[in-house]
Amino acid sequence: EKGGYDYFMLKEIAEQPKAVADTLLGRIDASGSLTLDEVRISASELRELDKVVIVACGTAFHAGMIAKYAIEHWTRIPCEVELASEFRYRDPILDSRSLVIAISQSGETMDTLMALRHAREQGSKVLAICNTNGSTIPRESDAVLYTHAGPEVAVASTKAFLTQLVACYLVALYLGQVRGTKWGDEIRAVIRDLASISGSVERVLETMEPVRELARSLADKGTVLFLGRHVGYPVALEGALKLKELAYMHAEGFAAGELKHGPIALIEEDLPVVVVVPSPRGRSVLHDKIVSNIQEIRARGARTIVIAEEGDEEVVPYADHLIRIPVTPVLLQPLVATVPLQVFACELATARGNEVDQPRNLAKSVTVE
Ligand code: F6R
Repeated sequence: EKGGYDYFMLKEIAEQPKAVADTLLGRIDASGSLTLDEVRISASELRELDKVVIVACGTAFHAGMIAKYAIEHWTRIPCEVELASEFRYRDPILDSRSLVIAISQSGETMDTLMALRHAREQGSKVLAICNTNGSTIPRESDAVLYTHAGPEVAVASTKAFLTQLVACYLVALYLGQVRGTKWGDEIRAVIRDLASISGSVERVLETMEPVRELARSLADKGTVLFLGRHVGYPVALEGALKLKELAYMHAEGFAAGELKHGPIALIEEDLPVVVVVPSPRGRSVLHDKIVSNIQEIRARGARTIVIAEEGDEEVVPYADHLIRIPVTPVLLQPLVATVPLQVFACELATARGNEVDQPRNLAKSVTVE
């Protein structure tokens, strides 16, 4: 059942290229447009939206954070993203022109379910992004976009996360397509890039041996920090969450721009810091900023583990360890940048003798508060 792998998590990490491809299947038509028939919310309703609110927990929340960048960029609709457990107790402002997107692998997470019930009571439409057919969250939503990751057995989410991202990009691009923004050409180009992204995920998986080796060498460390900017920031949070839950290590993710506002005080000799570097072909100011962040932490003794695109030579002098990822459109980078962090956490956990598929104190589906 583990298909020759020692753990379900390893199997599920390896299944990601297929999971990503399956989630795209049938959703891009021959002309290169999106056909999301499952989104049973009329085009006129979608055109009238004045706000998108995403609710989720844990890893699914990180997918939602990334979705915010994509939705605001491609649709120009303001988008908020909030932990379901905060949202539901806060009396948030919603009405019939708000679209609430609930992201949940299991479809049973209590806080996310309560958040969507609250949204429907306010008259908002709810779209679920879910991996489990017929579960409670999609049943109670107006529409559902299923991720086709297949069953995820390991408690720590991997392939479900990547497919949640794909679904979020599809929603963002679809909203852009329906509403017709000035990004029409870019949207068509990104849809094409998305169609071939599974090959990029595959390429990352083929180059993971040095990451595993690095992880094993860090097994006796107490802390690992993760930094990112833009869509790399939620990726940093996800890398830290994976390490906490699997390796039981102190791990924190920060927005790199926040370093000077506190976290830089944590940097000390030989502290491993993973930095997710945005594409140099995107807004180059972001790339420049992160290169100076890497220099700053390295000058204070950090051991820098840099995840950067192929061809990004500027980071090379400041990287104690360099992990290469394929060139992708800026907003899609999390689909490839997250994979090394999953492998890193899984290998570190194994090296520390932890039970990878069943981390202590955690359950796969959190149906209580
Ligand atoms: C982390 C993890 C959890 C879940 C969270 C939400 O690896 O698996 O953080 O992402 O409990 O679960 P779902 O997506 O089922 O609502």
